[in-house]
Amino acid sequence: MAATAKGDTAKRETATGETATIILEGKSYELPVVRGTEGEKAVDISGLRKASGFVTLDRGYENTGSCRSAITFIDGERGILRYRGYPIEDLAEHSTFTEVAYLLLYGELPTAGQLEEFSTFLNESSLIHEDMLHFFVGFPRGSHPMGILATTVASLSTFYPIPDQLDGKAERQILANLISQVRTIAAISYKKSIGEPIVYPSYRLRYVPNFLTMMFSSPVKDYRIDEDIVRAIDLFFILHADHEQNCSTSTVRMTGSSLANVYAVISAGISALWGPRHGGANQAVITMLQQILAEGGDGTEFIRRAKDRNTTDRLMGFGHRVYKSYDPRASILKRHCHKLLNRPGMTDPLFDIAQRLEEIALKDDYFLSRNLYPNVDFYSGLILRAAGIPYDMFTVLFAIGRTPGWLAHWREMYHGEDFRIARPRQIYTGPGARAWVERSKRG
Ligand code: ACO
Repeated sequence: MAATAKGDTAKRETATGETATIILEGKSYELPVVRGTEGEKAVDISGLRKASGFVTLDRGYENTGSCRSAITFIDGERGILRYRGYPIEDLAEHSTFTEVAYLLLYGELPTAGQLEEFSTFLNESSLIHEDMLHFFVGFPRGSHPMGILATTVASLSTFYPIPDQLDGKAERQILANLISQVRTIAAISYKKSIGEPIVYPSYRLRYVPNFLTMMFSSPVKDYRIDEDIVRAIDLFFILHADHEQNCSTSTVRMTGSSLANVYAVISAGISALWGPRHGGANQAVITMLQQILAEGGDGTEFIRRAKDRNTTDRLMGFGHRVYKSYDPRASILKRHCHKLLNRPGMTDPLFDIAQRLEEIALKDDYFLSRNLYPNVDFYSGLILRAAGIPYDMFTVLFAIGRTPGWLAHWREMYHGEDFRIARPRQIYTGPGARAWVERSKRG
């Protein structure tokens, strides 16, 4: 089998664009070449099976573009991340999470009036149905808040049924419900886990102070809003808001492609995010740093284990399927960690260990030769610790931040021209057809 791109020549020769030639069993097939606005290139194999009987095999979809998308651009080699064309560094510096959510969903930065309207709408959508509070009593003590979040978000579908005709108004309400209520549910699940009465959202507060107040105030104690903490959480949400076709977003597109209820679709995304190789890594990083602190070493021993193929240990918060250089989100978070942890009384020994680990790893040929650099999770848990967020809630905060991204992808897919149910093929490797055997004759 051979594949060659005809490149610019083909582009000049044909009005329809470039093609790639693939030769299979001696027969050649012309396949369209598709280019993105940033020069990303793909061979469109949509017609390959029909024409040739062949499918492609791509473990972990590493080389497979599953859709065209205009939401987020990543250049993993150069460490670039942009939402709707805006560099993540600029959004982190100048925007708020609510503004970024609007940008992801609707494609443009909002005017001041649009932002005000959107924020008000989020506030108006923040209460969950009172009957849902019964659910939180039923979960066993010690339940992981991600399990509670996934279950409760799916249950929103029963309290807020989706009309058969999903018009613009109904869709806007669903998007606002999810962005706003995922935060309310997260705070309630925390309050229930520590046995305190729940705190309702307030129209007077913006998105992040509202969340922190629901988390940390109580009938006997007001939460004093600390603008540095608000900024840290806002930044965390912005940096987690989207990351193109990652595992949970692909899950959202996959589930959504069956036209499943959108609340259930986001619940599926939350479940996919939970795993330690994805969003769960922010918890795993803190566990690793605490283990190193307890062992009293400088991390060298942990790094030795992470490199050893006979152990399952990995340097958590390092490596990324797409970034083959420093994750730009990790640099921003690291800088912010310095700022936050320099405040009086805010030091964290785990931050020192993290920096030492990074220094050791980035001098080690094992990590350098495999292009393993810190990813977003390496420093994000430290920011959350500094903000007083309990360990079990780390991945939940990731989910709150990622919700606008999931919804933007769901919306793009739902309204897209090439919307089809996602249904990959496989290469079957099991037994060939065989005769059924009587139970008494098996052995
Ligand atoms: N520590 C030690 N070795 C590693 C690490 C790591 N963190 N990450 C990758 N490697 C090694 C692998 O063992 C493999 O080595 P080999 O070539 O000798 O077999 C090589 O680097 C390539 O690794 P893969 O697992 O093939 O890379 P992949 O792209 O499939 O995995 C992943 C990416 C899952 C993120 C991986 O780097 C990892 O497990 N990192 C730690 C968990 C983590 O931080 N996850 C968060 C990701 S960011 C996010 O989801 C928000």
